[in-house]
Amino acid sequence: MMWSRVLGTGSYLPVRQVHNTELESRIETSDAWIFARTGIRSRHVAADGEGTVDLAAVAAARAIEAAGLQPQDIDLIVCATTTPDMVFPSTGCLLQARLGTRGAAFDVQAVCTGFLYALAVADKFVASGQARHALVVGAEVFSRLLDWSDRRTCVLFGDGAGAVVLGRSEHPGIRSTHLHSDGSQAHILQVPGHLTDGKMQSHAVVHMDGQAVFRFAVRALESVCHEVLKANGLTGADIDWLVPHQANERIILATADKLGLPRERVVIALSHQGNTSAASVPLALDVAVRDGRIQRGQRVLLEAVGGGMTWGAALIEW
Ligand code: UT7
Repeated sequence: MMWSRVLGTGSYLPVRQVHNTELESRIETSDAWIFARTGIRSRHVAADGEGTVDLAAVAAARAIEAAGLQPQDIDLIVCATTTPDMVFPSTGCLLQARLGTRGAAFDVQAVCTGFLYALAVADKFVASGQARHALVVGAEVFSRLLDWSDRRTCVLFGDGAGAVVLGRSEHPGIRSTHLHSDGSQAHILQVPGHLTDGKMQSHAVVHMDGQAVFRFAVRALESVCHEVLKANGLTGADIDWLVPHQANERIILATADKLGLPRERVVIALSHQGNTSAASVPLALDVAVRDGRIQRGQRVLLEAVGGGMTWGAALIEW
């Protein structure tokens, strides 16, 4: 049996950082409220003219380098984004042109679960032999989907990109991926809007019922994490690192508690990134790989939940 395995990771955050104290001067909020309710202190915001593909290209180049490969070795790009630079071509195709890779390139859209969806798709291509080296990217300029006068949403999100390169292996890498959606819950987290006659119809900014999303997230993440453990005959004690979606520290720690994982085995990169949607999991993963926490041979559990509603998880033997 052949597997797909992570060969390298990379990430990128835009230069400009917006601290909670800067938001205090614009809206009725406080650093104390934001930090206590979410664990966020600051987030990065893309510069004018800086697009999703610009962030993705830097993260991707770093992942390809970490994998010890050249761009021309990549024969598949799966890009997860909710904030494409154009209606079409896909961000994956724009990225392909930027990097000079070959083969197929396309986007998947599952909002904050997007990276897990992209990873699951790329894993199937690589493990089955249809691709040799896949670049899997999560990239967002989510700041452009926000109403910056709505304190219930604008304090939560940020921009960034993360990427991994997958290669084929005789030894287990990605053990299993688990994806779920419940479209009946679309109304609790959405950006309504569509283009007609070249104009955006409706106010296309994030609308969120925060408490409903919170409750949904805690239930869905516990359920999918237990699904992963059961499918692989493991318990929480067998997991070396939990790399969760970085939306809210209270949600992250609730999931860790349900798995019996101490805080020291949870990767939390939220405080200076905020919720970067599809970029959140690969960004956190890259931080923990580069600072030496995640080591070869360890078991890493990834999870995320987002608009759709969508949720998913993956177990990786690093
Ligand atoms: O990637 C998946 C996407 N999203 C999530 O995972 C988010 C899930 N939800 C959450 O993380 C939390 O629900 C929030 C962080 C969004 C909100 O925290 P909460 O503890 O659920 O607060 P709340 O919505 O119940 O609001 C409590 C109070 C309200 O005031 P009143 O009605 O009690 O007077 C809000 O108006 O806090 C107020 N509030 C704020 N105050 C200061 C809401 N936003 C803010 C703010 N600053 N930014």
